[in-house]
Amino acid sequence: MSTIIKEEIIDEIKSRSNIVDIVGRYVTLKRAGANYKGLCPFHSEDTPSFIVSEDKQIFTCFGCGATGDVIEFIKRIENIEFVDAIEKLAGECGVEIKTTSEKKSEKKKEFFYQINRDAALFFYHNLCETNNAGYAYMKSRGINNATLKKFGIGYAKDAWDGLYKYFKGKNIEDRILFDLGLLSHSKGKYFDKFRNRVIFPIINTRGKIIGFGGRTIDKNALPKYLNSPESIIFQKKNNLYGLNLSRQEIQKLDSVILVEGYMDVISLYQKGIKNTAASLGTALTVQQAQMLKRYSNNIILAYDSDEAGKIAALRGMDILYEAGCNVKVLKIEGYKDPDEYVKTYGKEAFMKLASEAVPFIEYKLEEAKKNNNIHTTEGKVAYLKVAARILRKIKSQVEVEAYIKKIADETKISENAFKLEIHGNNREVTKVKYDEKKGKPDNLSTADKNNNLLEKNLIKLMIIRSEFIPEIRKYSEVFSNTAHQRIYDIIDLLYEEDEEIDVSKLKDNLTDEDIPTLDNILENIQFSGKEVQIFHDCINRIKIDRIKKRQKEIIEVLQVLDEEEDASHIRQLTNELLDIQKNLSKDNSIERGDY
Ligand code: GTP
Ligand code: MN
Repeated sequence: MSTIIKEEIIDEIKSRSNIVDIVGRYVTLKRAGANYKGLCPFHSEDTPSFIVSEDKQIFTCFGCGATGDVIEFIKRIENIEFVDAIEKLAGECGVEIKTTSEKKSEKKKEFFYQINRDAALFFYHNLCETNNAGYAYMKSRGINNATLKKFGIGYAKDAWDGLYKYFKGKNIEDRILFDLGLLSHSKGKYFDKFRNRVIFPIINTRGKIIGFGGRTIDKNALPKYLNSPESIIFQKKNNLYGLNLSRQEIQKLDSVILVEGYMDVISLYQKGIKNTAASLGTALTVQQAQMLKRYSNNIILAYDSDEAGKIAALRGMDILYEAGCNVKVLKIEGYKDPDEYVKTYGKEAFMKLASEAVPFIEYKLEEAKKNNNIHTTEGKVAYLKVAARILRKIKSQVEVEAYIKKIADETKISENAFKLEIHGNNREVTKVKYDEKKGKPDNLSTADKNNNLLEKNLIKLMIIRSEFIPEIRKYSEVFSNTAHQRIYDIIDLLYEEDEEIDVSKLKDNLTDEDIPTLDNILENIQFSGKEVQIFHDCINRIKIDRIKKRQKEIIEVLQVLDEEEDASHIRQLTNELLDIQKNLSKDNSIERGDY
């Protein structure tokens, strides 16, 4: 709910409700002097340490430290948001909190929810009452009747007007069904959007059906999953699939297993693993992170084991960490996703995997180690640089120290040298500093500015001329700005699906923070018809930067090699260095970088 509640209304609610009466509905209270005492509902205890003060209208627990006013109490005990707690209390004590226009829009929403509910029942009956391909399909995936019912899974028949006719019979306007994404429209005609698909209702934490996902059961029909479009009751960034069923368990176990797909949630649930939610294949948002945090801070990412899943996981972990969660990563090796794994090995095996999930920093470091052979000096240097970049993002200094020790140990370099890499002046500038007066990026060295421009040019080129993508992909490591990195990752994924980059699809997959960055690039980067030349200039510049980096690396390695023991390696590197330096002096012309 987006209502902004006025201070007076909150005061009115507080003055009309007595905390002792309200708490008394949930907790047996006994009088103790001026106060009331009972067993704390927020932690388990045998002797009462939960106090309610009628005078002060607050509760306090000396055992677990929970404290607050009546609104806070309702919020915690009912596990709802502040505004919802207000609404609940307002309803009970007769305080009006909504304006007329708010009431009207609430009414419209309620009507939409009701239609979705009706549609869900229609689909559910299709699946349960007759022989049909949807039921057979779900059976083939091992889903039993109880689970079908629990998730309200349904079937849209292979027809153009099944649902349409059903609602026609109820005199519901076409336009409303279209706005909800239940009907499509083409050449002046409306028809069912979901055809020959298994239907998964998407239900929010208040139990309202806000949209649907439809999985094709015909291998040749695309897309595999068709989802409801956004509507006044469905915003993808604000929801997670399955959370309506799992939030209690998440809170109880104080941990959530975050997966990618509908089927992962459903399969895990059927096997008795009920603290899950799915991000449904799109990029995790800050809002979703905040939602999860309401129930637990401890997040286990269990994304698909393929490349796309890994990338989505890497992006997701940063967002979750930034939002203040403890993030761990569960690795499913040899299997596609949690669904496949739990179906093959069962609950205990999956729980074991979950208990072995590693902190995300460790996961990132492991990945970096896999990509570099730390038994060679160069591999070690490269690994240490990546590791330094990963550690720079950690907020807890204690944690950083612990990792420094571990990494110094395994690579046999001095802790101080590694610290210098982390904190020293080799730092890349990833955050743009702003000059407050001018409001413009400042304090960026010319090199950083050039880099920033280079990255922006590449992004725009990929979007308007997707034939450049295969070449640009070879240099994906150039994106040092984290927003640019994320935009690149999505472009890369979209390109896998389709050779053209659709800007609105791209935006759908970006988080709110990244969209302005993209808009800025689209608007301000202009090529005036010189795309090809600029593309070549960019690639040249990257190649030169790469060579320079290699030059620096060689110099660093040469400094640590032993003149006698590593004589042949030294010779080889020296030759390479000389070659590089010769080439660089030849290419000085392109090096100006004034593309
Ligand atoms: P199956 O097990 O094959 O049913 O799929 P899954 O649940 O493992 O899904 P997959 O790993 O392919 O994708 C993860 C999630 O991304 C799905 O549950 C969907 O929410 C979403 N998704 C997958 N394919 C599509 C698609 O073609 N279009 C859209 N919009 N979403 C998709
Ligand atoms: Mn999957």
